[in-house]
Amino acid sequence: MMTSFQSGIIAEASSDALFITLNVNRSDINAVKNALAAMPALIEEHQAQFPDAQLHAAIGLSRLIWDDLDNQRPRHLSTFPHIIGKEVEMVATDVDLILHIRSSRHDATYLLGSALFATFGNAVTLVDEVSCFKYLDNRDLTGFVDGTENPEGEQRKQVALVGEDDPEFKNGSYLNIIRFVHDLTKWEKEDIKTQEDIYGRTKHTNQEYPSSEKSVHAHTKRTSLKDENGNSMEILRHSMPFASLTEKGLMFASYSKTPTIFNLMLESMVKGDKEGNTDHLMKYTRATTGQAFFVPSNEWLESRSG
Ligand code: HEM
Repeated sequence: MMTSFQSGIIAEASSDALFITLNVNRSDINAVKNALAAMPALIEEHQAQFPDAQLHAAIGLSRLIWDDLDNQRPRHLSTFPHIIGKEVEMVATDVDLILHIRSSRHDATYLLGSALFATFGNAVTLVDEVSCFKYLDNRDLTGFVDGTENPEGEQRKQVALVGEDDPEFKNGSYLNIIRFVHDLTKWEKEDIKTQEDIYGRTKHTNQEYPSSEKSVHAHTKRTSLKDENGNSMEILRHSMPFASLTEKGLMFASYSKTPTIFNLMLESMVKGDKEGNTDHLMKYTRATTGQAFFVPSNEWLESRSG
């Protein structure tokens, strides 16, 4: 069967995003299936209503709910890896379902989020909703541009979409989410050079350090991984800041054709390299959630209805 990917996976960076996490009431599973089946059309209607808003969505299902929805399973679907390092811990807080909506208009994001949520009726319970915004020129709240080294053009599909190696789930994507809460008071006490060393990039001009000058503890060093053939292992990130007056952070979101690459990056950050050199960015932030999902094709969603 020809399949199409959900548009939120590949679309370019947006200026507004909403992450809605849900748990499913198992006794209402048929209502959930019917709701999922209706979603691609509902998303298209909203896109037609806001043609200039770059409105996109991705609906992901976790390992916890998958077997209630399908008797076949994406090859690498599993729960979020719980990783405990010497200094930091990555928690696993898996839920059943995620709606990742993004656009260039908060009203469009809001309307689509509300419509998708309403479609589930009483068959789901809301776990959390996090509203995110573009900060300056796509910076994280630590003041550094985020997303620069993301794959571009056709490469985005190569990196993010499942291909022929799992034909049943072609054009799906593995989504990982972490809600990070920053300690900006601690971060802002550091001078700019210290901050730059932690990322391995310059702050204002967003230049990458030459590799010889990058610390083994630099975030971009710890996340630049190569496979056994020397090829770069990549993910497609759609992280965005969230903030209230009292809590500020980043919703980290990454899409990949396999969750293995993300898992290796996270291990490299938290457990470090062979010598145990860890990612020093993690001294200034704390993971409060960790969730893994599979974002299936539009046709998979549509074929859920009974
Ligand atoms: C690069 C921020 C967590 C993977 C970057 C960059 C920034 C950044 C500013 C440099 C510019 C860029 O290429 O995007 C953050 C913040 C995080 C965070 C604030 C959490 C508080 C993570 C996590 C992963 C990750 C959890 C994966 C497990 C990457 C990758 C790169 C990158 C792959 C590109 C490295 C390169 O090729 O140079 N991040 N990041 N990041 N980050 Fe993160």
